[in-house]
Amino acid sequence: MVFPFHKIVNSEAETSLVAKEFSEILSPGKIVLLNGDLGTGKTFFVKNVCAQFGIVNVSSPSFSIVNEYHNGKKIIHFDFYRIKKYEELYDIGIDDYLMNKEAVIFIEWPDLFPDIIPNNYFKIDFKFVNNSSREITILRHE
Ligand SMILES: Nc1ncnc2c1ncn2[C@@H]1O[C@H](COP(=O)(O)OP(=O)(O)O)[C@@H](O)[C@H]1O
Ligand SMILES: [Mg+2]
Repeated sequence: MVFPFHKIVNSEAETSLVAKEFSEILSPGKIVLLNGDLGTGKTFFVKNVCAQFGIVNVSSPSFSIVNEYHNGKKIIHFDFYRIKKYEELYDIGIDDYLMNKEAVIFIEWPDLFPDIIPNNYFKIDFKFVNNSSREITILRHE
């Protein structure tokens, strides 16, 4: 995969293929930010990356705030949507999570708490086109 990456996908299967390609360049310690309106496919994308690593029980961390998976690979999946203030993130130990160089870290709704985002990350933007189509843009920032 070459960055910046940009593609209009017209089905879940096409999004899965992008997730597969992206999973091939991911290594431990990487942080992946996922932006886009509700229902544009952020969680769907993370699920499909995880599936590539043999992790299949992935659910949305919208209520739990953070989910962790270990299966050879270590994945940490955040969703900031329901967080109201920075203190809640500090209380769950966000700084320690973000310093973990053994895990791939996904964050949905990162722009709600920009101050805790490190400088090196992949940023994925999802835009709704129609029921089955999405515009996906992936930038590498390092
Ligand atoms: N091309 C597509 N890519 C990703 N998801 C799609 C696509 N077409 C339809 N969908 C559906 O859109 C929804 C995305 O939901 P979800 O991943 O939970 O969104 P988010 O985490 O961004 O709120 C899922 O129900 C998924 O099946
Ligand atoms: Mg989600």
